[in-house]
Amino acid sequence: MTPDRNAQFAQYPSLRGRVVVVSGGASGIGASIVEAFVAQGASVAFLDIQDEAAAALTERLHGTPAFYRCDLTDIEALQKTMAVILERFSTVDVLVNNAANDTRHSIEAVTSEMWDRMMAVNLKHQFFLSQAVIPAMRKAQRGSIIQMSSIGWVIPSTGLPVYVTAKAAVVGLTRTLAHELGRDNIRVNCILPGAVLTERQKQLWFTPEYEAEVLRNQALKRMLQPEEVARLTLFLAADDSAGITNQSYVLDGGWV
Ligand SMILES: NC(=O)c1ccc[n+]([C@@H]2O[C@H](COP(=O)([O-])OP(=O)(O)OC[C@H]3O[C@@H](n4cnc5c(N)ncnc54)[C@H](O)[C@@H]3O)[C@@H](O)[C@H]2O)c1
Repeated sequence: MTPDRNAQFAQYPSLRGRVVVVSGGASGIGASIVEAFVAQGASVAFLDIQDEAAAALTERLHGTPAFYRCDLTDIEALQKTMAVILERFSTVDVLVNNAANDTRHSIEAVTSEMWDRMMAVNLKHQFFLSQAVIPAMRKAQRGSIIQMSSIGWVIPSTGLPVYVTAKAAVVGLTRTLAHELGRDNIRVNCILPGAVLTERQKQLWFTPEYEAEVLRNQALKRMLQPEEVARLTLFLAADDSAGITNQSYVLDGGWV
């Protein structure tokens, strides 16, 4: 069963013309988020390392979103890229901290170097991208930061302990940033997706056994789509959610 393709979805007038930065926007959920903000009339910049996927997305969206190649584990490069974006767009209204890497790993395989690398790709850039946009948001006295966590640290998941640890930390980061920034009308929330059927998931882990496990655990008996996460992201970015900060939203078809 797929979601109703004829369903009508919200348009948010407050997102028109807003400057939105999406990390990991070239593929998967991030690409759906880029597309969703473009459809709202926002000015979108996205950061990623996948040139081909980024070019295909930009072409599909008629050149509207601006792609910035940036390895987010390189903090100096991240800071330089954000300086270029801030110079070009003058401000950033919405930051979506979405990039991650959920490569499977056993406890035994984790080395000190690998721990640092996985934390860098799944947690560290969320802090430094936020740090980079905060001065502009403070100046504007508004902003919305939306971070991708996961239900992985809530359900009894195995096979990716460092990723799961990072995704739990994203919630802590969300809550402390929300309290640091609330006085400047900057909101910080996070989303905990469940099993979302991206291209990468299809290619790497989507077997009949995996699907059966997901559907057994979810209340909804269908696979979730990336656009569904994008729609919640839009709501958390728009002025419609102006009173919401410090929160974690589970979007998992009723697994947790
Ligand atoms: N798909 C799911 O089922 C699921 C479940 C729970 C949480 N999430 C979370 O949602 C977010 C998006 O997930 P997804 O499934 O679309 O992931 P994905 O792996 O399909 O896409 C991640 C994107 O981040 C980019 N990226 C990775 N490393 C990067 C780096 N060093 N520098 C710049 N860009 C980099 C990738 O190129 C890719 O475009 C992630 O934070 C993920 O943890 C996804």
